[in-house]
Amino acid sequence: MNRRKFIRNTSVLTAGTVLVNPAANIAGFYAPQNKMKVAVVGTGVRCVFMFGRDLLRDYSNYVDLVGLCDINPGRLRFAKSFIGTNCNTYTDLDEMIRREKPDNLIVTTEDSAHHEVIIRGMELGCDIITEKPLTIDEVKAQAIVDAEKRTGKKVIVTFNYRYPPYRAKIKEILMSGLVGDILSADFHWNLDHSHLTRYFRRWHGETNRGGTLWVHKSTHHFDMINWWLDSDPEEVFAYGALERYGSKNPFRGKNCRNCAHTNTCPYYWDINQSAVDKGLYADNEHYDGYVRDNCVFRPQIDIYEKHAAVVKYANGAMLNYSLNGDSDFDGYWLAFNGTKGRLELRMGGYSYKDDVDIIFLPNGRFTNEKKQVIKAYHAEGGHWGGDPLMMDKLFKDPNMPDPLGQEAGTRDGVMSIIIGVAARKSIKERQPIKIDSLTSYTPQAKRPS
Ligand SMILES: NC(=O)c1ccc[n+]([C@@H]2O[C@H](COP(=O)([O-])OP(=O)(O)OC[C@H]3O[C@@H](n4cnc5c(N)ncnc54)[C@H](O)[C@@H]3O)[C@@H](O)[C@H]2O)c1
Repeated sequence: MNRRKFIRNTSVLTAGTVLVNPAANIAGFYAPQNKMKVAVVGTGVRCVFMFGRDLLRDYSNYVDLVGLCDINPGRLRFAKSFIGTNCNTYTDLDEMIRREKPDNLIVTTEDSAHHEVIIRGMELGCDIITEKPLTIDEVKAQAIVDAEKRTGKKVIVTFNYRYPPYRAKIKEILMSGLVGDILSADFHWNLDHSHLTRYFRRWHGETNRGGTLWVHKSTHHFDMINWWLDSDPEEVFAYGALERYGSKNPFRGKNCRNCAHTNTCPYYWDINQSAVDKGLYADNEHYDGYVRDNCVFRPQIDIYEKHAAVVKYANGAMLNYSLNGDSDFDGYWLAFNGTKGRLELRMGGYSYKDDVDIIFLPNGRFTNEKKQVIKAYHAEGGHWGGDPLMMDKLFKDPNMPDPLGQEAGTRDGVMSIIIGVAARKSIKERQPIKIDSLTSYTPQAKRPS
């Protein structure tokens, strides 16, 4: 068995170092008395693959998919057939929940609708498993916090970025005290043009729908830093710029399919080459006007492609962060400077499959002999192997021990988006923004567990 398969089969985290429920790790060995009843709202691409096809293929011993809901009936029909489920479909969320009575509502709608369906789902008796970002602004975040308290229901935010084994390894190293107290962190993430334009082509390009990449994308990054540092953000100062996309370009078309510039535009993309994208989106545009291959130079784009922020944490640590969107490089560079030394990592993007070297440089004059290389590995599956490991915890055995605290709830969801919300405000107001001015949460030096 190769190393990656071994990690996948032993389920959670870095092999051998973490106790997990042994019965839950062997497919088919452990089965719950009553299967969890789940329904999904928002049947786009995230639903049909991860919470549809993969859920039925790998978790049907544990979970019954009892309903699918979307405001677009055509996308709903395609999703049902692509997933291969017999469950009922609905364009009305209330009706689906009342009829099917799911235990858990899985939320994979557009980001701007998350708060509505999360709150309604809880009011109608469901626990919630929601995709990131929890929501896109502070008012909607507070409404979710209040609704969770009012209904007594539970929200899990699917921060799959916490689950790749090498990220769990970083958490273990930081928890072990090897690096000492963390004084500062450097985190610089690049999206290459093909990755970035995937966001600019659709709703993510509009602030009131995706909250800007400060929220839609960086929620993952800020969540990891909050989790690794084990502290809450206290204050944020940021800059942002849009220089290449949106109205900046001299030419534009209606969308890629009927554009006069297909031969010259570096970002031309033919949606009809992908049966799933065509079936989900292009074939169903007439229902709701959702255009999947919009022009990346349309004037409605009002988000940023370059992002830089400094975040002060309640434990005194400082984060230097950037998200660079006009780049030929996809991947990131991460470092923690501690009282005992420095931990460093350089990584490629989603397609990067090689093993990972985490470098530790102990304090003192640098020599190559003192440098320690800590090996870490990828697991099989999406997002560096994080998706299936998180799915195991969500569906195979929700009570599986969680010694690194990888499962995330409402507070984690809020504390990650709120850095992006504060960054947006900081850019507009040209001043630092205090996190405690935005929601009822007060930043803590050590995150409450
Ligand atoms: N964690 C990850 O790595 C990851 C990866 C991809 C997507 N996501 C998240 O998953 C979610 C879905 O992403 P996607 O790419 O599938 O988006 P999508 O646009 O393809 O699908 C969203 C669907 O939601 C539907 N919808 C919108 N408002 C609705 C409402 N009020 N009620 C019911 N349906 C509604 C739309 O019609 C659409 O079919 C997003 O929040 C995104 O951030 C997370």
